[in-house]
Amino acid sequence: MQDVTVVSHPLVQHKLTKMRDKTTSTKTFRALMRETATLICYEVTRDLPMDEVQIETPVAATTAKEIAGKKLVFAPILRAGLGMADGMLDLVPSARVAHIGLYRDPESLEAVEYYFKAPQDIAGRLVIVVDPMLATGHSAIAAVSRLKAAGVTDLRFVCLLAAQVGVDNLRAAHPDVPIWTAAIDAELNDHGYIVPGLGDAGDRTFGTR
Ligand code: URA
Repeated sequence: MQDVTVVSHPLVQHKLTKMRDKTTSTKTFRALMRETATLICYEVTRDLPMDEVQIETPVAATTAKEIAGKKLVFAPILRAGLGMADGMLDLVPSARVAHIGLYRDPESLEAVEYYFKAPQDIAGRLVIVVDPMLATGHSAIAAVSRLKAAGVTDLRFVCLLAAQVGVDNLRAAHPDVPIWTAAIDAELNDHGYIVPGLGDAGDRTFGTR
């Protein structure tokens, strides 16, 4: 498994371009977010361990493969992570969901938790943290730290778009957490937006601006 995987599949890149386009409607943006998340989920689950099980087809008894271990947990960071989590649940409908609410303190600029609700047995599960935009990395770092404090040891991080500084910060804080993204943009502007980016992912998903 690589530390940072850029999902370069043409379908993902095509959909990302549509999402970057400022003329794309809220309805289309939301649909693309969901579809892209499904495709990235396919990549992030590529190496899951498998068990062999005995089954009977209508024709014969046979051994076949199924995913080993406990059900996955998707952990969207509120609120933009919700749009991606839907697309990942389309692919893994039996996954559990942990919601993590964080806001940025205007003084310290640190991520502050306002909501956390996770499956009780989350510690024994693979948890995939989901946030479309990895900008400074502060929210991602706080979310991973919170999950580790809850006992989680097996973590992955999925986003749609990252800034190089966000990747570097998350890797420095949590080098055990591999990252999947569709693209890495070079910089952040003074307001913390990824450039060229796609704007505010939450606002564009939910039509709030
Ligand atoms: N969050 C967003 O929604 N967009 C950015 O560009 C950075 C953080």
